[in-house]
Amino acid sequence: MGSLDVGIRRDGLGHTSRRDAWWVYPSAVFLGLSAFVVYATWAAFQGNFFYFGLGGAHYLSPFYSPLLFWSNSGAGGPHSWFGAPPHWLVAISPALLILWAPGGFRLSCYYYRGAYYKSHWADPPACAVGEPRLKYRGERRFPLILQNVHRYFMYLALVFIFILGKDAWDAMWFTRPGGGREFGIGVGTLVLVVNVVLLAGYTFGCHSLRHLIGGGRDKLSGQPGHACAYNCVSKLNERHMTWAWFSLFWVAFSDLYVRLCAMGVWHDWRILR
Ligand code: FES
Repeated sequence: MGSLDVGIRRDGLGHTSRRDAWWVYPSAVFLGLSAFVVYATWAAFQGNFFYFGLGGAHYLSPFYSPLLFWSNSGAGGPHSWFGAPPHWLVAISPALLILWAPGGFRLSCYYYRGAYYKSHWADPPACAVGEPRLKYRGERRFPLILQNVHRYFMYLALVFIFILGKDAWDAMWFTRPGGGREFGIGVGTLVLVVNVVLLAGYTFGCHSLRHLIGGGRDKLSGQPGHACAYNCVSKLNERHMTWAWFSLFWVAFSDLYVRLCAMGVWHDWRILR
């Protein structure tokens, strides 16, 4: 068979023959992810206004859950797992003790990798668009080989879903003025319920979970349990990008909602008593 030599020309950053608006997607990702990282970092370092308990409510910001120790301001005291922090942790915001797990999960997510490699590293900015580097190093060498740790972050993320589910459940039970608890729904309850649903949709659609639950097997017929779980995860996986963005936005909004209620800026409206 004859062969044809085609010369490959390496263009500089941003050079392309594409005529479409290829820059819209990476620009939107850049703005969205950067805004989230700036807000989440700011909120995590605050160490305060992450718990709202007025009117008998029990709303805990997802950025601070699980609350291992109360903060140095005393916020969230009765709801912390281990009470007062040891003296060497007193100056550290409780969020910083736990956010590395969901943060690592997002950072190493297969979808987000593809997104921020383009938007933040321009590697390349989009298909068939010139990039700044001359060599492709891939993910088989240090440091990007560390992205393979994703499956272990996934195990931790699954645990977080159950913890956030418990927080949403707690947000349905309001302390009565005379003592005891009663069922109720506030706007904050809905915010925290939507938060855990979106995070569950994102987490249960994870590529690593899909592989773990059946994708690594040659045959699923004859194993109805496995096949059903695999199909459910596959269904969520089809919209993994959508779940990723909605859950990212909503988890930040949930923190903001609890924060502004705790600061007295917003009033939590009780929908059902
Ligand atoms: Fe996105 Fe696992 S691939 S969360």
